[in-house]
Amino acid sequence: MEVITTRHALREYAARHSQKIGFVPTMGYLHEGHLSLVERAKAQNEKVVVSIFVNPTQFNDPKDFEKYPVDEAHDKELLERAGVDLLFMPSRGNIFSEGNPTIRIQYPHLMDKLCGEKRAGHFEGVLLIVHNLFMWLNPARAYFGLKDYQQYLLVQKMARDLEFTTEIVGCPLLREKDGLAMSSRNVRLSSAGRQQAVGISQALFSSRSVFQETQSVRAAADALRQELAQFEVEYATLSNAETLETLEEGTPLPKKILIAVAVFVDGVRLIDNVLVVPHAISI
Ligand code: PAF
Repeated sequence: MEVITTRHALREYAARHSQKIGFVPTMGYLHEGHLSLVERAKAQNEKVVVSIFVNPTQFNDPKDFEKYPVDEAHDKELLERAGVDLLFMPSRGNIFSEGNPTIRIQYPHLMDKLCGEKRAGHFEGVLLIVHNLFMWLNPARAYFGLKDYQQYLLVQKMARDLEFTTEIVGCPLLREKDGLAMSSRNVRLSSAGRQQAVGISQALFSSRSVFQETQSVRAAADALRQELAQFEVEYATLSNAETLETLEEGTPLPKKILIAVAVFVDGVRLIDNVLVVPHAISI
């Protein structure tokens, strides 16, 4: 595996392997979820490129940024073993050469909901870095985990609107055996917190079952909130999976519903979601 640190080298690599690249952008501290993206990229592309960069512009809380776990040696080992061709590990100065750029890509009606509501600037930071990486690398496909469903939706929209030729591939969320969504943040949980965190996916699964049985948004939302009563909840909602509008009882059901939550365990912010398709309404 080749390791490079400058965007200049990344552009050169892109020129040599134009449109044959599958790309997995990450912030490191890799787990099986990331490796499943790499595997998918390997199956569909001649070359696989991974980036590791803990992007300061997407953290609205500097303490969260400082505490973000880092283990470069272990990440390199995992990626080497997974058969990655190129690892891009830039320093901050190599991404933003003149301080934080002020250019913004904004989708206010998608960014002000769910993970964006309490984290001003988070998705602008994500889109900025993903935009730059796409611009330098021009990959044929880029792989994003559906745990960050809102991020996936926004990247897809940006790629379409700015006419990137990159196909955005959404990959299934991976869970630990007990149901907890895999996340680089799980390592920050105490053992009691780790146990408590199992309740997050359980709440989502219960809410989904209630919806499947009743087709009632209110009943499913009530079940979700009841089961999450033990947590400090940032949001817990049923939304239209395309527009992210919160669903209300009695309004027409969308094609797909996103049941999504963000909660705090041991002060660590964890997110998770499930998708559910309403029954077809026969008249
Ligand atoms: O999902 C992530 O790890 C990050 O948001 C991404 C896409 C690498 C951008 O920093």
